[in-house]
Amino acid sequence: MSSSAASRTRARGARRSDDLPVPFPHAGGVLLADQAQLDPMELLHGLVADLRAAGGRVVTGARVQHVSVIGRPTVRWDGGRMSSDTIVLATGAPTVDRALHFARLEPQRSYALAFDHPDPPDLMLLSAHGSSRSVRDAPGDGAARRLLVGGEGHTVGRARHEQGHLDRLREWTAEHFPQAVETHHWSAQDYTSPDALPRVGLLPLGRGRVHVATGFAKWGMTNGAAAALAVSGQILGDPVPWAQRLHRGRGRLPAAVGMARINAGVAAAGSLELGRAALKPLPKHVPEGEGAVGREGLLPAGRSTIDGRTCTVTAICTHLGGVLEWNDADQSYDCPLHGSRFAPTGEVLEGPATRALALRDDDHS
Ligand SMILES: Cc1cc2nc3c(=O)[nH]c(=O)nc-3n(C[C@H](O)[C@H](O)[C@H](O)COP(=O)(O)OP(=O)(O)OC[C@H]3O[C@@H](n4cnc5c(N)ncnc54)[C@H](O)[C@@H]3O)c2cc1C
Ligand code: FES
Repeated sequence: MSSSAASRTRARGARRSDDLPVPFPHAGGVLLADQAQLDPMELLHGLVADLRAAGGRVVTGARVQHVSVIGRPTVRWDGGRMSSDTIVLATGAPTVDRALHFARLEPQRSYALAFDHPDPPDLMLLSAHGSSRSVRDAPGDGAARRLLVGGEGHTVGRARHEQGHLDRLREWTAEHFPQAVETHHWSAQDYTSPDALPRVGLLPLGRGRVHVATGFAKWGMTNGAAAALAVSGQILGDPVPWAQRLHRGRGRLPAAVGMARINAGVAAAGSLELGRAALKPLPKHVPEGEGAVGREGLLPAGRSTIDGRTCTVTAICTHLGGVLEWNDADQSYDCPLHGSRFAPTGEVLEGPATRALALRDDDHS
């Protein structure tokens, strides 16, 4: 890590739990010793600078669609390719999945809000009970600091009203930090494995050249670093002993039970969305900023109007055919099965899908 990135890491000492601000003392909070807080973008810039200094090449803005291990391993995207001795797929849900990772991962979407606040708590807090609430501070404009509040996670594509999750975070913040003035909101997703350990290892049929690292369960700062140590140990021929537990084929009972739970949820969500789409006709007109999924012709379709552009797409996920749901917080079509997401115009946003939705109609008027 470069020194500039490391210098922004702040150590957090042990504190007594009765130091906790509202509302955490009521949740039986405990402050853990030896915490550290860092700015992930600064860390990323530091790592990129180190990589470039060592002769590495960084390509951004390219969506990998294919990985070939015939000859020298190669990744391909629209209009480009890159070869190397070893490939590590660290794309959230792996885009090439010969190990069916998607069936062993639960995609979870969570929300975050940033606020101007005169005195945000100088603590990192995570609720231990009930709806998760996570509180941080962050640099604001000039010397000011911002309050960050996160939480309200749910399985991707199964919320029905994502905006409601953001609103609940807003209400909670207004109650406990009444001076907070919202500046930003966003959401993101991460994947959890049945036994809550990351999934790290070689991809089957990858000729020992393609590694996967995913399932960080919203603990990417630590689980991602552990996965990186495990993968680099494997590549450099110096495996880390504790990493054996992260590799696939763990086969323990809790994992099997967790996997059964995940796949029962997938089956239930698949039937539910199919039923909803079959019963409900697709509206002919959708107001600005909104979208809907329903029946039009033989297949479920989605219609949205964003910035004056009304698009109609086939609302069937190009991964394995899940019926999509409209996400009213992010204005996207989300798959309730394995978490692929698509733009209103059909392009893939994230998840295991690699192909866009079929665009049936595109009206700019
Ligand atoms: C709201 C929220 C708050 C969180 N807070 C914390 C926290 O406080 N501490 C903590 O430790 N963790 C936290 N996490 C979890 C952490 O962010 C994740 O665990 C971590 O980012 C996952 O890392 P990843 O590399 O697997 O996936 P990502 O960070 O999602 O990175 C995957 C990358 O792959 C790219 N990609 C995907 N598909 C392709 C493709 N086909 N071709 C090319 N590129 C592709 C994506 O664009 C993305 O840049 C939080 C997560 C959320 C959602
Ligand atoms: S992400 Fe697998 S079917 Fe949609």
